[in-house]
Amino acid sequence: MDVPVPSPAGKPPAHGIIESVEGVTDVVLAAMAGAPNPRLRTVMASFIRHLHAFAREVRPTQDEYDLAIDFLNRIGKATNDAHNEGILFADAVGFSTLVCLMNNGGNGATETAAALLGPFWRDNSPLTPNGGSIVRSPAPGPALFVDCRISDPNRRPIPGVEVDVWHASPVGLYENQDPNQAEMNLRGRFHTQEDGRFWFRSIKPAGYPVPTHGPTGELLHAQRRHPYRPAHLHVLGFKPGYRTLITQVFVDGDERLESDVVFGVTRALIGNYRRHDGDQTPPAPDVQAPWYTLDYGFVMQPGEAKRPVPPIK
Ligand code: BEZ
Ligand code: FE
Repeated sequence: MDVPVPSPAGKPPAHGIIESVEGVTDVVLAAMAGAPNPRLRTVMASFIRHLHAFAREVRPTQDEYDLAIDFLNRIGKATNDAHNEGILFADAVGFSTLVCLMNNGGNGATETAAALLGPFWRDNSPLTPNGGSIVRSPAPGPALFVDCRISDPNRRPIPGVEVDVWHASPVGLYENQDPNQAEMNLRGRFHTQEDGRFWFRSIKPAGYPVPTHGPTGELLHAQRRHPYRPAHLHVLGFKPGYRTLITQVFVDGDERLESDVVFGVTRALIGNYRRHDGDQTPPAPDVQAPWYTLDYGFVMQPGEAKRPVPPIK
């Protein structure tokens, strides 16, 4: 670690002592002003200005301060290989969506197909051929046939995109939360073919509550907010030369589209999950009516491909 350069008199650089309540912020800013990394300098100076302004506006009592520190500590303690409370909290206060929208769609200038990753993506889900099923253990619920295309902003199809898909079961749990589901149930990895298409069979996702056993759940309860997400399918598209696409396609007509607990719904991401009844020929002999189809087109922007850090193992 670099140590501060001493002054000619042998003392470390001085930011001064605290002379008044008003002066605290400037003293702290001065202490941080020597960081050699310019981005760290900018970010931390802004963080301190906003944090101190927040404290001056709210004037937390000592008990409230203790509660806030305990809340932060418990976010850390609630996080483990199977659960990411830090991401969940950022999601539930709209921070993840804000950062996502600002980093996509021409840095927030235009509509984007991007949405928050959420805490349930797992890396290395089973490679599945197009047309295959991601239902890996018996699950109740109507069959869903998904047919998607990925193209560039000029509508040219992008072949060879590695696409992860994952969703919750009709009982509202991801496989890693539910001992009754097979490992990697309702998760799969596909490759787009020459025309940019990937397609697979699953079951229609249902809405579900986000985990509420930790501090985020306490906050939701205190704010009288329900913990539900509207039903959706997650999609992550990765190909060198393109910005990694992280998104979700929501089930149209879900009663919670306008009250998603983590603020993920944008108009562009509401899919047309078409219901088919018994008067049409089912797409496979074992399919019973009603079944659903979802056709959806994604656009990937040229740019740097980065796989996200998996929130859970
Ligand atoms: C999800 O859609 O998987 C999710 C997103 C944010 C918080 C909890 C779950
Ligand atoms: Fe989800």
